[in-house]
Amino acid sequence: MSPSRKNLISTAVAALALSTFATLPVQAQGQPALKVGLMLPATGTFAALGTAIENGFKLYVAEQGGKLGGREIQYFKVDDESDPSKATDNVNKLIKRDNVDVIVGTVHSGVALAMARAVKESNTLLIVPNAGADAITGPLCAPNIIRSSFSNWQPGYATGVIAAQKGYKKAMTITWGYAAGQETVKGFSEAFEKGGGKVIKDLSLPFPNVEFQALLTEIAAQKPDVVFAFFAGGGAVKFVKDYDAAGLKKSIPLMGSGFLTDGTLEAQGASAQGLLTSLHYADSLNTPRDNAFRNKYAVTYKAQPDVYAVQGYDAAQTLAAGLVAVKGDFKQRDAMVAAMRKMTVDSPRGKYTLSAAHNPVQDFYIREAKGRENVMTGIAVKVLPDPARGCKM
Ligand code: PHB
Repeated sequence: MSPSRKNLISTAVAALALSTFATLPVQAQGQPALKVGLMLPATGTFAALGTAIENGFKLYVAEQGGKLGGREIQYFKVDDESDPSKATDNVNKLIKRDNVDVIVGTVHSGVALAMARAVKESNTLLIVPNAGADAITGPLCAPNIIRSSFSNWQPGYATGVIAAQKGYKKAMTITWGYAAGQETVKGFSEAFEKGGGKVIKDLSLPFPNVEFQALLTEIAAQKPDVVFAFFAGGGAVKFVKDYDAAGLKKSIPLMGSGFLTDGTLEAQGASAQGLLTSLHYADSLNTPRDNAFRNKYAVTYKAQPDVYAVQGYDAAQTLAAGLVAVKGDFKQRDAMVAAMRKMTVDSPRGKYTLSAAHNPVQDFYIREAKGRENVMTGIAVKVLPDPARGCKM
């Protein structure tokens, strides 16, 4: 081989080596990259929710220059399909195959319950950026499990407070028959009945079905004063449109935990206008913190953020607080968890703290759907803690 050709090849090999090196996680302060497993839905009715959570998480990491507590982040991803029957196998891909340090996930309560059981066994750190399953910060609570979202009881309860305050006396509820739906309805009923109302009937269909017709017919026949619904993602889009198309929107007010209209307003169009919901986030908080977050999110992803994006962002903030406290030394897990437990999260939703069971203690807003925004019109309940029934920690 001619010397010049040999030179060319060795230059090419060196360049390749360099570019390969550049794409590998760089070692920070002598510590390898932190392995973060993202277990989220990439398909199915909750797919958009998973994307928003991942976007929010990565936005916070990017704002920190790509490192948390001095550690580069290496991502491992699993699409959980919001399918509880695959959840244990899926989470074990991250725990056993990829050997991740921390798992961030997921959206669906049934999947998250299986994840909580698996990480309790392996002692992997789990940050839950959505799934509200009450048991996760109840009987299954653990030092290695922290939530950046809510418990199902919380938004249900807050919406029940508003429904009672509006003077409604007879309510019907409608949801998917799984933990999130059932527990949200329970929270709603608790507050609504405490406020003088009565839930006359609970309706449900299996997750993720969207054949609402028979149930809507039953609502029309029973004529309650108000309907409370828990649906989210693609299912929420279809429900709100079907409720309107059935002619019910004009005659029986529809309320819901804010997931009914969060991240879905554009697709729901006129059918969602005027709907009242309660949630720990709204589109019009107009605080410097939220405005900065919303602008950055919109510029980065060419999309508007929603509650899921906020919860993903705050999952990263929570992890960062732990890592910073131990200067990136993930082995000091007790000190990390203690720092996370004590922190005040400077969230776009407003500052919040964590309860002893590691669930956000936070304000619940009253929101009204106007145009493409869930506009904040008041506060349903200030600093609402989850009752954390059954948590011993
Ligand atoms: C849940 O399954 O816990 C869940 C899913 C979607 C939401 C909220 C809660 O928007």
